[in-house]
Amino acid sequence: MNGLPMSPQVFAILGALIEEKLGIHYGPLDKDLLGDKVATRAVEAGFDSLLDYYYYLRYDPAGPAELDALAEVLVVGETYLFRELDQLEALVRDVLAPRAAASRAGRLRVWSAACATGEEPYSIAMLLADRGLLDRVEIVASDVSMRALATARVGEYGPRALRSQVKVPPCARAFLQKSGERIVVSEEIRRAVDFRRVNLLDGNAIGKLGLFDAIVCRNVLIYFQDATARRVIDALTGALVPSGTLLVGVSESLLRLGTALQCEERGGAFVYRKAG
Ligand SMILES: C[S@@+](CC[C@H](N)C(=O)[O-])C[C@H]1O[C@@H](n2cnc3c(N)ncnc32)[C@H](O)[C@@H]1O
Repeated sequence: MNGLPMSPQVFAILGALIEEKLGIHYGPLDKDLLGDKVATRAVEAGFDSLLDYYYYLRYDPAGPAELDALAEVLVVGETYLFRELDQLEALVRDVLAPRAAASRAGRLRVWSAACATGEEPYSIAMLLADRGLLDRVEIVASDVSMRALATARVGEYGPRALRSQVKVPPCARAFLQKSGERIVVSEEIRRAVDFRRVNLLDGNAIGKLGLFDAIVCRNVLIYFQDATARRVIDALTGALVPSGTLLVGVSESLLRLGTALQCEERGGAFVYRKAG
């Protein structure tokens, strides 16, 4: 607690603003958590009232830039290399490899949406490189957090990026070097990923990315309410080529949201496919 109290009324309007702009939902039980996070940023930005801070965010011409700064303290960037590996292996082995074989010319396109600090797109790149497919696939990776993207572009991580309980494929040795405690992603893999800043609620920005053969959007829909998740899934569906594939986190299901995509099993992992 840092001295800026948040009334229920300010919680309601600030929570609604954050949900409108970033998608992240704070329920009544999250009031103290949100209050602490927002107050920390508001004090840093020179405010002594959360109501004034709300008005600034909502109406000041500099509000959008301040909202970006606030986003940095709100987002949860938890991720690690080879997270939910079975899914990523199925993506490469059962979706991308056959597609690459079927279309000899041109490159496939994959988008890691909400990539946090980059471990997810780098994991995909390593699995592709292991199959000799890296130059056949363009990998775009995006997040709303500039701070996370800055770390992603460097491609250097602490030991927590490789969790001991996570299965690591043998190919990792070829692409990850140890530098003391640090894990350094090889240049070949780093160069293969094009990082961009994209807010998943921004349909125009998504439209500008073009179409993808596969989109990986894992462990971010959990922060959204159903209506927001549905809107994001619709935008992602629009960014898939016909018969393109969407992957969501293993604990996230689209079935209850009602999607036009077909749920299919690929090598033990569930994926969602757009009609051909
Ligand atoms: C828990 S991480 C997931 C990272 C990775 N996909 C994984 O599964 O390991 C969630 C990420 O979603 C991002 N995020 C949250 N709201 C977003 C939004 N509206 N647009 C884009 N990214 C967002 C956060 O910045 C964070 O990096």
